[in-house]
Amino acid sequence: MDVKILLNEKDIPKQWYNLAADLPNPVQPPLGPGGKPIGPEMLAPVFPMNIIEQEVSTQRWIDIPKEVLEILYQWRPAPLRRATRLEKYLKTPAKIFYKDESTSPPGSHKPNTAVPQAYYNKVAGIKKITTETGAGQWGSALAYACNQFGLECKVYMVRISFDQKPFRKIMMQVWGANCVASPSNQTNFGRKILKEMPNTPGSLGIAISEAIEEAVSDKAGETRYSLGSVLNHVMLHQTIIGLEAKKQLQMVGIKKPDIVIGCAGGGSNFAGLSFPFVQDKINGANIEIIPVEPKACPSMTRGEFAYDHGDTACMTPLLAMYTLGHAFMPEPIHAGGLRYHGMAPLVCQAIVEGLVKPRAYHQLKCYESAMIWAKTEGFICAPETSHAIAATIDEALKAKEEGKEKVILFSYSGHGLMDLSGYDAYLTGKLKDYELPDADLKKSTAILKDLPKPSTKKTGKW
Ligand SMILES: Cc1ncc(COP(=O)(O)O)c(C=O)c1O
Repeated sequence: MDVKILLNEKDIPKQWYNLAADLPNPVQPPLGPGGKPIGPEMLAPVFPMNIIEQEVSTQRWIDIPKEVLEILYQWRPAPLRRATRLEKYLKTPAKIFYKDESTSPPGSHKPNTAVPQAYYNKVAGIKKITTETGAGQWGSALAYACNQFGLECKVYMVRISFDQKPFRKIMMQVWGANCVASPSNQTNFGRKILKEMPNTPGSLGIAISEAIEEAVSDKAGETRYSLGSVLNHVMLHQTIIGLEAKKQLQMVGIKKPDIVIGCAGGGSNFAGLSFPFVQDKINGANIEIIPVEPKACPSMTRGEFAYDHGDTACMTPLLAMYTLGHAFMPEPIHAGGLRYHGMAPLVCQAIVEGLVKPRAYHQLKCYESAMIWAKTEGFICAPETSHAIAATIDEALKAKEEGKEKVILFSYSGHGLMDLSGYDAYLTGKLKDYELPDADLKKSTAILKDLPKPSTKKTGKW
């Protein structure tokens, strides 16, 4: 059997899939001041209207603009690969396939949404985009996309990653972006945090607040903010991953995978691969779908399903999601892109329904899995991606115990060639596991007490 399953360029999906059209109980609306659902106009200082329209859309299929496809062709359709060497090493009857998102210019799935977001901003007449970044994957993807469309780009990078991963910052600079460590002294919120916690490692929640503050403070109205995950339109843009994978599996005679796995920070890579299969599951297919997160930042497995802000300064509307509380400060694990207190509302509604079943792993187990991967398949994965590999290995070993020839599909969300400091820490025995203590979880979720509660209504089918 082939180890690389390649789609022709002409067969690239021409439309994105919107899960909002098919969820049995819809995602609950974002709430503004006073707990009232917000209208599109309230988001207008933050996002251009063409993106807001996608954010609230329940249309099942949405056309991918030709100008976006022309850039995606640089690396898409992305290869689907079969991990035959890992299969052999594990002596498993399972067939392991992975969708290789590491082949994009910045090296991850992130440009699948950075490119359309830059395009829609350009069409709307915006001149500059601000954003946050954790590990630097998103910041470098947006820097690349803004460069393609001639837009200015400013990136607030979480301090711990800024220090651990200087090469990502250089990539952003190569593509013409301005990257600063967050908290920074360039915004009111950054200065406030620095005064209260001068040695803080930072968090995605803080960096988002800084990037939004800069966007909405532009008096000329020519700056907007862009989010690399969490929101509905980001999930939508990423579905090109799963739509391609589905066609590629069919090319080798596989009607459906048995298990679909993706790591989840804000949820976009997981959603991108899995949502087209969640649609199949809603329509009756038997597929296990697993988002994987770190035990150090366990929003889906230990967080509350609650209305919460997407950022620390409470500048975003309230979103119905599994959350650890918007002021949660995750331990400085190496998977910087998984250090987020919340989770995409679309992913969360799928969890509420039982359509997807999250799990969490310690970072040492993830690095052990990344080492097995590197020694069998050869590629060095991103620390975030290692969470999906850990779950894949567990599922392949389970298939071996059960003697079942299961088809496992996972998202290889990025390479780790800019993340070697984590491998260094692992190889020199410095890497530690962190499990969030119950007392800290109680403290960080106490902030949710006075916020409105979303409904947990489900159909009970899954
Ligand atoms: C390689 C990689 N995988 C996964 C993630 C997680 O983000 P999301 O859940 O939005 O896909 C990140 C985030 O930075 C990443 O860089």
